[in-house]
Amino acid sequence: MAKQNIFDNETFFEGYQKLREREMNANNLFEIPELFRLLPDLKDLRILDLGCGAGEACMEYIRMGAKEVTGIDISEKMLEVAREKNSDPAITYICMPMEDIGKLEGGFDLVISSLALHYIEDFKGVVNNVNRLLKEGGRFIFSQEHPVVTCHSDTYGKRWTTDENGLKIHVNLANYGKEGERDTTWFVDNVKIYHRMFSTVINDLVECGFAIEKLVEPLPSDELLQKYPDYYDLFHKPDFLLVKARKS
Ligand SMILES: C[S@@+](CC[C@H](N)C(=O)[O-])C[C@H]1O[C@@H](n2cnc3c(N)ncnc32)[C@H](O)[C@@H]1O
Repeated sequence: MAKQNIFDNETFFEGYQKLREREMNANNLFEIPELFRLLPDLKDLRILDLGCGAGEACMEYIRMGAKEVTGIDISEKMLEVAREKNSDPAITYICMPMEDIGKLEGGFDLVISSLALHYIEDFKGVVNNVNRLLKEGGRFIFSQEHPVVTCHSDTYGKRWTTDENGLKIHVNLANYGKEGERDTTWFVDNVKIYHRMFSTVINDLVECGFAIEKLVEPLPSDELLQKYPDYYDLFHKPDFLLVKARKS
């Protein structure tokens, strides 16, 4: 199965770094706070982070009391930043595609993944391995681009229908039921993501032995909307899906 390493592309990497440096990006405002709200008490836990990127979250898990964190990522460039900025004796960074995590030793209390699983073609294969790597009762908590977002491809035309003044009326949705690879442009052309229906994500988890504990589709608060009115977009279509599941 195809494995893409777009974060090692120089142009993509620079664009992505600049986006994450903007304090008020959607990750910092919505995705990260909601992901952290889903976490249990991390004290003394062994954690695996899939697609850990620059390791900010790995470092935070240690600050929150985790005993040991293993961060894996397919991108050497991202791991270089992680090792430079977010290293700790209790964190091990490994350059590895998450499709290969079956090679790791198990016994994790918690597997976390933030915005990386939509780059994976074989979601169910990864979920199956996550289940095997977790202790009984262990949790899998992750965020991904929401299925109504992964559904879109640049070849399907404009994302929004707007009025004569350019104001967004609604999002355009097409081919939601056609799962699989989508080519999109994000800093560079031909960035591949994989679209799965909401039901596929949930059914794959259940079929691999997980019980769903909570789902979140983050929305802006009134206060946040006053400061950043553009995030009203999230009422038209959610950008993120967050899942908290337990090995049952
Ligand atoms: C949007 S970034 C998120 C990074 C980090 N989790 C965070 O929230 O800051 C996605 C990360 O997933 C990694 N990734 C993409 N495909 C992967 C794969 N097949 N195996 C492991 N990591 C992958 C990328 O290299 C990148 O670091």
